[in-house]
Amino acid sequence: MTDIELIKLAVSAREMSYSPYSNFKVGAALLTKSGKVFTGCNVENAGFTPTNCAERTAVFKAVSEGEREFSAIAIVAGKGDTLNDLCAPCGVCRQVLSEFCDGDFRVIMGTPNSIKVVTLSEILPYSFGKNDLE
Ligand code: THU
Repeated sequence: MTDIELIKLAVSAREMSYSPYSNFKVGAALLTKSGKVFTGCNVENAGFTPTNCAERTAVFKAVSEGEREFSAIAIVAGKGDTLNDLCAPCGVCRQVLSEFCDGDFRVIMGTPNSIKVVTLSEILPYSFGKNDLE
């Protein structure tokens, strides 16, 4: 699975975005260490706070189907029919990813034409995790 292939799967997942309040459509594609892909879109809510981001949708789908080891996630986003050059995961999604992913987990952002890749530890330094609770 190449980074661009994963981005393209995120583009397809974005088509299912339920975002009547923001019209900001997000798609994510999460790659497991075993090579499976779980996709997700953002799901908004009239109460606003119950809204779920695309990244968390993908993580929760995967974990609920027995997967806990991940190597990368691709994220695409934009208003309406447009795609932003880059959309980074929100802070809550970074925290959720850090529950299951190592610091070298790859976050692939962009479009099918241009991508930027960072690691989870780069975008979530000094993270709080299960080790802190021991
Ligand atoms: N959103 C995501 O799905 N992922 C992000 O990383 C940033 C924000 C969604 C939540 C909401 O439905 C819309 O984008 C506007 O914030």
